[in-house]
Amino acid sequence: MFATGSRALAATPPMGWNSWNAFSCAVTEEDIRSAADRLVETGLRDAGYEYLVVDDCWMDDELDDGYLRPHPEDFPSGIEALAEYVHDRDLKFGIYSSAGRVTCQGYPASLGHERKHARQFADWGVDYLKYDNCGDHEGKDALARYSAMGKALAKVDRDIVYSICEWGRNEPWRWGRNAGGHLWRATHDIVAKWSTEDTEFGLGIADIIDQMDDRDIAPSHGPGGWNDPDMLQIGNGPDSGQSKLEDVTVERGLTPAEERTHFSFWCLFAAPLMAGNDLVEMDDRTLALLTNEDAVAINQDPLGIQGTRDGRLGETEVWSKRLTDGRCAVILFNRGRTPATIETTVETVDMSVDAATYTVEDVWEDDEWQTSGTLHATVDPHDVALFRVSPE
Ligand code: GLA
Repeated sequence: MFATGSRALAATPPMGWNSWNAFSCAVTEEDIRSAADRLVETGLRDAGYEYLVVDDCWMDDELDDGYLRPHPEDFPSGIEALAEYVHDRDLKFGIYSSAGRVTCQGYPASLGHERKHARQFADWGVDYLKYDNCGDHEGKDALARYSAMGKALAKVDRDIVYSICEWGRNEPWRWGRNAGGHLWRATHDIVAKWSTEDTEFGLGIADIIDQMDDRDIAPSHGPGGWNDPDMLQIGNGPDSGQSKLEDVTVERGLTPAEERTHFSFWCLFAAPLMAGNDLVEMDDRTLALLTNEDAVAINQDPLGIQGTRDGRLGETEVWSKRLTDGRCAVILFNRGRTPATIETTVETVDMSVDAATYTVEDVWEDDEWQTSGTLHATVDPHDVALFRVSPE
């Protein structure tokens, strides 16, 4: 049913950059070209961020005989030329549509045109499709709508990573793989905030961290099919992204500690890592966070395990996941408003190998020591310690 090689696609969580969180609907082909250049110049591409994905609003107001057309003013050179520009920089090119009549911003989408659009994407050189859930569904359920595009993509002569963006509404972790998906959004839209009120749009970082565990979805996660807690908001301040949309009002911005927590958890979750910041404006701290080799290695570990919560004590928590070679990644997480000393042991975390001595690498402090089994750190408010623990 699937094109040759498609199972090797997304063998580790996809990494890249997507236009939505920084540019929302105001994106142009110039923004995409600059993002491609910046992925190369900054070293992000070489750190693994290889997919450059144009989100909503790249298309014209009307379909043309059922085919999608690029917006004549914002994407005047066309999508094929843009994909070529991206490929010339040794990056992969991604695009967006929706499993409904229109996209979330009201542009024409792919329901009922799946074969035509999949062929069009393949002809343009598309390597990744983010497929949203907006627009009239014409009475079809999610599995039918997402499988229709999955089958259409499997029929084209090109490997295309299929990113199902159904917001976790119909438990896509149960059917995402069968629909041909390589990743599926498990949660609603992320905003650059610690947490949101019920009346606000979207979810904050702490809300998503909770949902990823509460939904008990880790067993469905692994090579070729990933639970997706949404794209990164690291480096996005108060004026970025959805805050440019008229109908969305969220005061936003994460502290450096909160950004570290965001990235550490996305690495522990083996989540797709799609950076979402303006790469032209990016500061050194953001770049250092996104490219930390040990954190990225924890994210890209070939076992592809989604880390889970081992325990809570007051406002402190311990989370972990098994890594290859008998190693283990551990997060000591402080949700509180004052610094906390957090302590656990190798017996509590997901460590599969017994040893007399373990080496602990502290990813953010760039420090290393040995222990017979105790793991501890003093952690600032809304911050984490991220360890890689290896049996000796
Ligand atoms: C939905 C998705 C977002 C983004 C927007 C675009 O809200 O969940 O990630 O793609 O649509 O309109």
